Amino acid sequence: MNLTKKEQSLLKDLQNEEKICAEKYHKAAEAACDPALKQMFARLEKAEQNHYDTVTGMLAGETPTLKPGQSQNAKKAQPESQRAQVSRAEKKSDAYLLADVLATEKFVSGVYNTAVFEFSDPAARSALTAIQQQEQQHGKEIADYMTANGLYC
Ligand SMILES: [Fe+2]
Ligand SMILES: [Fe+2]
Repeated sequence: MNLTKKEQSLLKDLQNEEKICAEKYHKAAEAACDPALKQMFARLEKAEQNHYDTVTGMLAGETPTLKPGQSQNAKKAQPESQRAQVSRAEKKSDAYLLADVLATEKFVSGVYNTAVFEFSDPAARSALTAIQQQEQQHGKEIADYMTANGLYC
């Protein structure tokens, strides 16, 4: 796959964003108080790492194989908190982590949307669309958890 300068530049931006996403979820998994939330963040870290690998492959000229609807995270998040007792401070701390990653997902989804419009190769467009759908799904999982735990506002 041959890339234009513009396509290369967009992929480099996405590569950087995915690196930050994976690191952010890694830190969030360490910091989360709710064990169920820790699990969700750890799973999302893996998904972001997959995105990073796909984008890195595209930058190296590989033709991506990801197709829309081919989710790499088949397992759904468990929205109900498994905590028996939740301190106010813990809940506030988790709420901050959730709001931060939700904002990041929204931003990254927008960057993918822009990239889809700029690419001409059908396989590249499909792969970028598939990743964008996964980012939207991440946002849904985060929002569902927030709603189930009375943290969405
Ligand atoms: Fe991602
Ligand atoms: Fe994501």
